[in-house]
Amino acid sequence: MYGGSLENRCRFALEIVQAVVDEIGADKVGIRLSPFASYSEAPDSNPEALGLYMAKALNKFGILYCHVVEPRMVKINEKFETPYSLRPMRDAFKGSFIVAGGYNREDGNNAIFSGYADLVAYGRLFLSNPDLPWRFEVDAPLNKYNRETFYISDPVVGYTDYPFLASDI
Ligand SMILES: Cc1cc2nc3c(=O)[nH]c(=O)nc-3n(C[C@H](O)[C@H](O)[C@H](O)COP(=O)(O)O)c2cc1C
Repeated sequence: MYGGSLENRCRFALEIVQAVVDEIGADKVGIRLSPFASYSEAPDSNPEALGLYMAKALNKFGILYCHVVEPRMVKINEKFETPYSLRPMRDAFKGSFIVAGGYNREDGNNAIFSGYADLVAYGRLFLSNPDLPWRFEVDAPLNKYNRETFYISDPVVGYTDYPFLASDI
């Protein structure tokens, strides 16, 4: 039931969506998918088909958003060129479509202008720039993130200690 065919590989995730929708309503539910991720022993044999199947199957619930990690984040840290695109998933999904993974100010804006996504999510840049929207607005320089402090247990170091932009800029 829960492995093998495409349908069976997606069953667990879709049953969870159904259960959460039943509990709190579809208008409060979003999902985060990383069909192309190949780490944590989670590579899929056909990630493109998997993502597209999920995007279509999610439509029946009417959930608020589908948030998908770019195929280029196939490994955890760096961008890799791949032949894949989120375009088929974007076209298939009827709710708000959010993309993430390796975006900067410029290609994030392009993704919105071109209709490739409704929203762009930022991970590492937001972690290291608490005022990221403001910095993007005024096209200010960004703090560099420190990979060494990404996954440490200290709640401050690497999480709330990156500086804000000086107020006179
Ligand atoms: C410290 C840290 C923790 C993360 N934790 C998660 C997580 O729990 N679940 C998840 O789906 N992605 C997680 N991510 C991945 C981000 O959501 C995002 O997909 C990734 O950083 C790529 O986007 P970016 O290039 O804007 O950073 C994490 C990333 C970082 C840096």
